[in-house]
Amino acid sequence: MSMKGLVPMGGPPPGGDPALGPMVVTERELSARVADLGAAIGSDYAGRPPLLIGVLKGAFMFMSDLAKTIPLPVEFDFMAVSSYGSATRTSGVVRIVKDLDLDLSGRHVLVVEDIVDSGLTLSYLSRNLLARGPASLEVCALLVKEGLQRTPLDLRYVGFTIPPEFVVGYGLDLDERYRNLPFICTYVGPEASSP
Ligand code: IMP
Repeated sequence: MSMKGLVPMGGPPPGGDPALGPMVVTERELSARVADLGAAIGSDYAGRPPLLIGVLKGAFMFMSDLAKTIPLPVEFDFMAVSSYGSATRTSGVVRIVKDLDLDLSGRHVLVVEDIVDSGLTLSYLSRNLLARGPASLEVCALLVKEGLQRTPLDLRYVGFTIPPEFVVGYGLDLDERYRNLPFICTYVGPEASSP
């Protein structure tokens, strides 16, 4: 794992929604870090532009902002997965809801993920994508929850390592809400501690 910074939790987010807890990553921190990641990807992939694979829905905002900062002719594809579990916990059983349109053979693939919690979703996806014969496969995860991974993962790019709290915003949801927040904060509403 490389390029991570542990984020201390901040004050309350703006807006007055009582279900939203402390700020975890501000809009300004997001744009600075995303630009750093884009520059690093640009230099690592010089001469072999990657195919970016966005994992929907959570990664849509990160993927869009990240792509604009990569100074290479990248291509895009998207996959949608759904993992079984409660509103705030993954079970690790993953179903592909929308598969890729493109063939991965011989491509330099960079998977763009919103958040790695247990790591079970990513571990499933990596195995599935590797079986399609890419020239290389790396992962860029915006967020990694500290210390929760139940499976060893090789994350080439990490935006922020955050405390093990349920978070929303910047693409991340709770039952489809809060994806459009321009920052990331903890969710402390009723479902926050459901099993
Ligand atoms: P994992 O399989 O436990 O690593 O969970 C990964 C997936 O669960 C992510 O791609 C998200 O869709 C979802 N997820 C995990 N933690 C959070 C969170 O704190 N907020 C919103 N979604 C989350």
